[in-house]
Order: sequence, then C-alpha cells, then structure tokens
Amino acid sequence: MFDLAQIPLSIYLHWPWCIRKCPYCDFNSRKLPDSLEEMRYVAALLKDLNNWRLRAGNRKITSIFVGGGTPSLMSGRAVEALIDGVSKRFELEENCEITLEANPGTVDEKKLTAFRAAGINRISLGIQSFCDERLKRLGRIHSVEDARNAIRATQKVFDNFNLDLMFALPGETIDGLLSELDEAVSSGATHLSCYQLTIEPGTAFAKHVPADLPDDDLTADMGDVVVERLAAAGYERYEVSGYARAGRRCRHNLNYWTFGDYLAAGAGAHGKMTTRDGIFREMRIQSPSRYLAQVETIGNGIEEQYAIEPEARPFEFMLNALRLVEGVPARVFEERTGLLLDTIRPQRAALEAKGLLDTNPEIIRATPLGIRFLSDLQESFL
Ligand SMILES: C[S@@+](CC[C@H](N)C(=O)[O-])C[C@H]1O[C@@H](n2cnc3c(N)ncnc32)[C@H](O)[C@@H]1O
Ligand code: SF4
Repeated sequence: MFDLAQIPLSIYLHWPWCIRKCPYCDFNSRKLPDSLEEMRYVAALLKDLNNWRLRAGNRKITSIFVGGGTPSLMSGRAVEALIDGVSKRFELEENCEITLEANPGTVDEKKLTAFRAAGINRISLGIQSFCDERLKRLGRIHSVEDARNAIRATQKVFDNFNLDLMFALPGETIDGLLSELDEAVSSGATHLSCYQLTIEPGTAFAKHVPADLPDDDLTADMGDVVVERLAAAGYERYEVSGYARAGRRCRHNLNYWTFGDYLAAGAGAHGKMTTRDGIFREMRIQSPSRYLAQVETIGNGIEEQYAIEPEARPFEFMLNALRLVEGVPARVFEERTGLLLDTIRPQRAALEAKGLLDTNPEIIRATPLGIRFLSDLQESFL
C-alpha cells in the first residue's frame, strides 16, 4: 500500500496559446485568437482544479508550473487571480517553487514585476539561441536584443531563473555554440535547460527538414561541448538536459523525474495521481475551445483517465528516473510504484552486466554509458 505522505505533489497549469507557432514545436500550442477572454480561461482552470481536491486530501503542494504555449502572454491580473485561486484550493508548502514560462518577445520589467507580486518566484525564459540568424530560422518572434532585454528585466525582478536553449540548430557550428553558452552563463541564470533540437513528427520542420542540420557526429560533439562548458562554469548537469547552480535544481521537474504526483489543468494537460486504489493518469482535452466548453458545462476538462497497471509501472518509473544523473535511491522505486524491488531484479542484473546500470543496490542510476543509450535502457523495463 502507498504511503501518500512520502509522494510529493505538484501542480501543472497549461496555457495553450502563443503569438505564432514555431516550426519545430509540437507542444499543445496555437496562435492566439484575436479576442481572447483570459479571465474566462483562468476561471476554467480553477474550476477544473476542483476535480482534484478530494484526491489531493491534505497533501501540501511542493511546486507549481505555469507552462505552455506562452503563459507570459497573460496579464499580471490574470496570473494573480490564478495563483490566488490555487492557494485558496490547496495548501502550498512554505517554500513552494512557482515557475512561469516566458517568451522573451512578450515580457518587460513591469510585467515581470506584476508576475512576482502575483506569487511567481521563478521564471523560465525561452531564449533558444543568442544568434539572430538562427532565431530567424527557428521562426522565433524575438531578436537577440529582445532576449538580452528580457534577461536584464528578469535579473532585476527574480533571483531564480532558467534559460531554455537549443543546440544542433540549422547552420550551427561548435564555435557558434561556445559563444552562445558563454552568453548564457554570463546572464546569471541559476538554471539552464539545453535541448538538442528534435525534428518532431507533424511539425513544419518535419515537412521541410532544414538542409543544413549538423550531422550525427557534430551533434554528439556539441552535446559534449555543452556538458563540459557548463560544468566549467559551475552548472552541474543533474538531468539529461538540465544544468543547475548549487541548490537551484528545478523542484518541479525533479518531481516528474522521481515519479511524483502532479495535478493538472488546462487544454491538453496531463496529471498523475496516486491514491489508496492505485496510480492514475488523467488527460485534459487538447483543443482550447472544446476544453473551455466542457469545463463550463460539466465542470471538468477530462478527456481520458486510466490506471497505470502494476506491469506498466517499472517502465514508466525508469522513463523518468534514469534521466537523472545521480539516479534515485532504490527505495523510491518501491515507494512510488507500490512494487517490490524484486520485480525488476532480473532486468537490473542484466543491465549491470552490460555496464549500463550502476551496480550499487541502494541506487537506481544509469552509468555514463547508459545515459548514451538511454532509450534502450528504458525499454529493457517494458
Ligand atoms: C513551452 S516551450 C517554452 C516557453 C515559450 N513557449 C517559448 O518558446 O519561449 C518549452 C521549451 O522546449 C524546447 N523545445 C520545444 N520544441 C523543441 C524541439 N523540437 N526540440 C528541442 N527542444 C524543443 C524549447 O527550448 C522551449 O523553450
Ligand atoms: S513559443 Fe514556445 S510553445 Fe509556442 S510555438 Fe514556440 S516553442 Fe512552442
């Protein structure tokens, strides 16, 4: 049986609109309509969150993440109503991490100050690149100058902020990447997320793949350059794409990676919840207009709900936990999946023999070789 007090609980809130759609992006996001009633959407998010209250019981919230899309398109007033509404419905831990994702083309100091006053205590800026030519190729709405202005404004208002960067971009070279990393480091960000560009099915990039993408060898070299340069600058790689200054790991993402629980509201948002009856996933309707209509008529935006059956739990757990460079204590597997470690003993032994998994029985961790072949490693638990 689960000891629910041991499982952290977060909240994910999804804002599904952007100024325009970037050609590489497969997040649930679309162009902002001409007339959007943001307070109507906030009211729907809060109403939808009510569906989780009973199941959350008296568990305290460890982190909140307002993601998108581009939630920085919201006004300070809307963010205030949202955070206020969440704290009236759930008890937040005293040092609850509350992040909002921002596109540099949509924020200035005044807006960020309003977000801070509304309770946001961490900003994640989608910088992607410090090169105007590459930003254009990525279809971004902002220039490097806009990004620098957004960083300066963020530095003034927030002491804890992340920059999202992408590498292996069309036309990128190692020298170009190095100078981008240097600029990211000099921004004073407490956290950097460095994603290798992925060509996602269904995106504009998948239809017309850029001709000058770095080849596999160059991409692998770039991955090494990111790790080395950021380590030298004092950012510890704690997750495949996550780098943090001491004490500044993202608590919200850590909760996903350690198979914690999270409530979710908003178009296309996914939640995961452990109860005395098992572990459940719940998906919200993807289309914002259909989501709004359903919440307003029947009081929830649920599209699908299913149990994560015991057979599926080892793979689901590993999909997350093995991304962490330090892995997780082995007891967390039992705590979060409700299964005994014995269930995965044969797979662990085989992977240890291949040098892909750490041999320490107290810990579940991919070796550096294992991190290189992460999907093979994860699939062994299917
Ligand atoms: C929801 S967006 C962040 C906030 C905001 N929408 C923006 O783009 O500025 C999440 C991040 O995922 C990353 N990302 C999106 N699509 C990607 C792809 N195809 N490959 C690699 N990283 C991607 C980008 O770094 C992006 O900032
Ligand atoms: S702004 Fe962010 S969420 Fe929106 S389309 Fe671009 S990458 Fe995706």
